[in-house]
Amino acid sequence: MTVLNLLTYPNPILKRVSVEVTEFDQELQTFMQDMLDTMRANQGVGLAAPQVGVLKRVIVMDCTPGVAPPLMLANPVIVSAEGSVPSEEGCLCVPGYREIIKRHEKVVVNAQDCRGETLTFNAEGLLAICFQHEIDHLDGVLFVDRLSRIKREFFKRWQKKRSQLEATEAD
Ligand code: CO
Repeated sequence: MTVLNLLTYPNPILKRVSVEVTEFDQELQTFMQDMLDTMRANQGVGLAAPQVGVLKRVIVMDCTPGVAPPLMLANPVIVSAEGSVPSEEGCLCVPGYREIIKRHEKVVVNAQDCRGETLTFNAEGLLAICFQHEIDHLDGVLFVDRLSRIKREFFKRWQKKRSQLEATEAD
């Protein structure tokens, strides 16, 4: 089992756009498994490659543990979306912060598995939210970038306090 290091906001790597996966080899399979281990070790329901500093379009998700097997996907794309729902989210890269944002209620996602086979998902509920959150990461977008203007001001203040606290602890 390999647990990779997580980047934390505001690391600039988290703002970058990831590149498509073109090689469906053993290296990719190992990386996907490492991502899954990392997600589980941090009690996450989803993880995107940029969160561990790798700018490749890879995500792993486990929204219904014990019900469905975890998803390990390359090149996920939202091909259609409908509806709008409030979604309370957090992110392993913004530890300790949760807030409500708007997401699509349902999404259709095309993606590839570790062998390059194309899969289609008709997602709703937590799975739909999770897809949107993780695919955002591949485009350098964090859930805090989707906060309303007022909530964003609160977040900035929260972030400032947190970094001051960290500076104090480092002394
Ligand atoms: Co996240």
